[in-house]
Amino acid sequence: MGTDIAELKAEVDAIRWYHAIDLGNGVRTPGLYDPADKVARYHIPADLSGRTVLDIGAWDGFFSFEAERRGAARVLATDSYAWSGTGWGSKRGFELARRVLESKVEDHDIDVMDLTPERIGTFDVVLFLGVLYHLRHPMLAIEKVASVCDHQLILETHVDCVAQRKPTVRLYNWMELDADTTNFCGPNPAAVALMLYAAGFTRVEIQPPASRLYNVPKWVATRLLKRGHRMVFHAFK
Ligand SMILES: C[S@@+](CC[C@H](N)C(=O)[O-])C[C@H]1O[C@@H](n2cnc3c(N)ncnc32)[C@H](O)[C@@H]1O
Repeated sequence: MGTDIAELKAEVDAIRWYHAIDLGNGVRTPGLYDPADKVARYHIPADLSGRTVLDIGAWDGFFSFEAERRGAARVLATDSYAWSGTGWGSKRGFELARRVLESKVEDHDIDVMDLTPERIGTFDVVLFLGVLYHLRHPMLAIEKVASVCDHQLILETHVDCVAQRKPTVRLYNWMELDADTTNFCGPNPAAVALMLYAAGFTRVEIQPPASRLYNVPKWVATRLLKRGHRMVFHAFK
């Protein structure tokens, strides 16, 4: 057993991880961030029993495995840019975590813009977390996402121009947002809601922050420094 864990640690260390994932037996992947902190913030249903779940832009798969842990009958993880694209990521983390967790999460290497019901089917709950602001065609992307969503979409994104009431999408110069070349746009909340309604959702809810205390520095950054921040939307068919 000791050797197995040493072998697993060596495998883990050979991968560049995006998600911190607890693999059990004291082994934790050295991710860039810990998504466990985000689960409450995203208001992912605690009980997903019997639901089918699609995780778009799954990368190392933390949220896919979490949906499975919450009872989902079927989970499909999709990605392309991080798995086989030009970024620094790979699919090795997802594959290793799936194996070690003995997970049944399915996978499909497909770009957001290529999602159709014919290619991947449709799902009760769709997770679209941390992807929208990377995309050059956010409205078209939301239409693609809507086409594979039967009931509930959970969308988390960077937002900008939050003080602006009219639907507005800020575009970023190269490296302007967080020095990340893949960050392309910052819609404001009104724009996200408008795009969701335009794509066929009939109810859109902005999710409250996890706690007011957490939100004070966010409020200062957003209102006084006029920086963007992150928001979570739930949209229903
Ligand atoms: C910030 S990560 C979010 C990963 C995960 N959903 C989460 O919330 O932790 C962005 C994800 O969007 C995907 N993505 C899709 N299209 C992209 C693009 N044009 N540029 C960068 N990332 C893109 C990446 O592959 C990656 O998995």
